[in-house]
Amino acid sequence: MSEDQNPSGGGQGQSRAQHIASAESGNRNPYQNPDGGITTTGHLWDDDLADFVNQPPKWWMLGLTASALWVVIYWTMYPAIPLAINGTFFKGVGLPGTGQWTAIKELAEDQAVLDAVRKPYEDKLKTMTPAAILADEELSKYVERSGKVLFSDNCGGCHGQNGVGTEQVGTKFAVREQGLMAPRLNDDDWLYGGKVDNIHETIAGGRQGMMTAHKDTLSAQQIDDVAKYVLAMSEGRGDSEAAGKKVFAESDCTACHGADAKGIQAMGSANLTDKVWRFDGSLEGIKQTITYGVNSGDANARVAIMPNFTAAGKLSAVEMKKLAVYVYKFGGGQKEEAAPAPAAVAPAVEAVSAPVAEAK
Ligand code: HEC
Ligand code: HEC
Repeated sequence: MSEDQNPSGGGQGQSRAQHIASAESGNRNPYQNPDGGITTTGHLWDDDLADFVNQPPKWWMLGLTASALWVVIYWTMYPAIPLAINGTFFKGVGLPGTGQWTAIKELAEDQAVLDAVRKPYEDKLKTMTPAAILADEELSKYVERSGKVLFSDNCGGCHGQNGVGTEQVGTKFAVREQGLMAPRLNDDDWLYGGKVDNIHETIAGGRQGMMTAHKDTLSAQQIDDVAKYVLAMSEGRGDSEAAGKKVFAESDCTACHGADAKGIQAMGSANLTDKVWRFDGSLEGIKQTITYGVNSGDANARVAIMPNFTAAGKLSAVEMKKLAVYVYKFGGGQKEEAAPAPAAVAPAVEAVSAPVAEAK
């Protein structure tokens, strides 16, 4: 379209100069087409772009009015713009029949529905032992689901998501890897036992394995020898380290790790004959463990503290049972020697759950 033509018509209207003249003269609608064409606002952009002044369709105007009205209705019913009224905000008049709406009320309603579904399970859990929960297929499935959240919130920070353990990075001995901050829970290597009751006891009571420092009781040579022996045991060739074997047998090692070096569950002393390391399993790392001990009070000792969750008051008795079952189900859990017959469970439940309930 040439710039001389009337953009609103078939090219027979005013020239550009005429158009501008009439626009400047104050006539807001200078583009009345001689052939009855469309009227524009009279503004021109980019030489020949003009605005029509057509009314939008009726349905569109109705929609616009209705939505403007809806804004006002919605605004009065719900808490909307936080207008301060007497030091509070406008809470809305609410819906007919249901009263004022708040997000918290809605949450509580949803929660109540959820709680009603959970209640029969939760009630049962209160009186059951972890072992009995584990034996009940439906309940243990239920527990596994809530256990996942509990574990992430309370345990994952030290034990890693899904119990894979977290690397402890320290600079104390000028070595980067100090071993695991907390033991892996998804294997079948247990310091304190992998039966569901052992696990429950660990969570409810906490654990702090203690190994004395040997820097004053053994010579550097003896520490070197016995460390080599421990390393050799884990590689299945313990007998090749005669000097270290002698130190191990004659010093206090056997008192805690057992004559067979396989560890004693009651003390949480590690099994030294396997390839699983809690702390740094290099020769240097083993020497550090032996020299300074674990939780021994020595400034360079390795630290291993599993918090006592009953004392911490963070978890309810039921939550601790749930976690025991959840951890057991990572796959490394050990079966009870004799599975309790259903009839025998009931009295055991009473006996075991009593102190737990007390602790809560
Ligand atoms: C502050 C870190 C920390 C937190 C949090 C923590 N743990 Fe531990 N946990 C440890 C340490 C450290 C040990 C090893 C204790 C030892 O060596 O004596 C341990 C040991 C354990 C053991 C025994 C493992 C074995 O081999 O016998 C279990 C089971 C366990 N934790 C479960 C849990 C559960 C479940 C939670 C969450 C409720 C949790 N832990 C939270 C640090 C933690
Ligand atoms: C007072 C009991 C006690 C005595 C004595 C003791 N230990 Fe330990 N030892 C432990 C405990 C408990 C642990 C596990 C600590 C933990 O994981 O919380 C441990 C852990 C270890 C570890 C680390 C294992 C790993 O997986 O990283 C080594 C190595 C070790 N002991 C060697 C020895 C040797 C060698 C001696 C003798 C010189 C000895 N211990 C004497 C209680 C003892």
